[in-house]
Amino acid sequence: MKKVRTAILISGGGSNMAALIAAAKAPDYPAEVVLVVSSSPEAGGIAKAEAAEVPAFAFDHRQYDREGLERAVDAELEKAGVELVCLAGWMRLLSPYLIGRWRNRMINIHPSILPAYKGLHTHRRAIEAGEQEHGCTVHFVRQEMDEGPIIAQARVPVLPGDTPEILAARVLVEEHKLYPHALALVASGQVRVEGEKIVKG
Ligand code: GRF
Repeated sequence: MKKVRTAILISGGGSNMAALIAAAKAPDYPAEVVLVVSSSPEAGGIAKAEAAEVPAFAFDHRQYDREGLERAVDAELEKAGVELVCLAGWMRLLSPYLIGRWRNRMINIHPSILPAYKGLHTHRRAIEAGEQEHGCTVHFVRQEMDEGPIIAQARVPVLPGDTPEILAARVLVEEHKLYPHALALVASGQVRVEGEKIVKG
C-alpha cells in the first residue's frame, strides 16, 4: 500500500503529534509521518519525534517574519516530498502564502466543537458559558482562524467541578483518537473537499 507522505507542524508538547505517529506505524494505516516541523527549538515534541525516529526540523520563529518562516517551512515540506500537512498545536497564525500552497491538503485540530469557541482558552470559555458538552474538531485549514470544512468531531461532557485543566485533559484523550481517525479519512480519500463541501466515499 502506498502511504501518503505526511508532515506534522507543532509548537509545543506534541501529544497529538505522538498519537499520529503511533497510529501511522500500523502497516495498513494510509499515511506515513515523514517529517515534523516545529516553530520553536524549545518545543517538547521535537524529542518525542526523534525518539520515534521521525526527522524533526526546528525553526526559531523569532528569526523570521511570518511569510519568511512559511517559505522556509514550505521548502522543507517540498524537500521531504510531503503530500499532506497536519497542524498539531502549531501556534503561529498562517498567512495566505502557506494556506494557498496547501489548500485542501492541510488539516488542523482544534479543542472545541466548531464553529463554537474558535481561538484560545476554549475550555475555560465553555465552562464559563455553562456548556454541557465540549469537544474537538479536525478540519481543513482556511484563512480565517479555526474555520474550514469539518472532517470529524468528538464530544465529551462538561462535569460539575470541572476546571479548564480537567476539561482540557478529558478533551485531549479524545483528540488523540480523533486526529488519527480524521487523518486516515483524508489520506485514504474517504473524505475530500469539493468547493467548500465535504464529500465522503
Ligand atoms: C491541543 O489541544 C490542540 O487541540 C490544540 O493545541 C493543543 C496541542 O497539544 N490545537 P499537543 O501539543 O498536541 O499536546
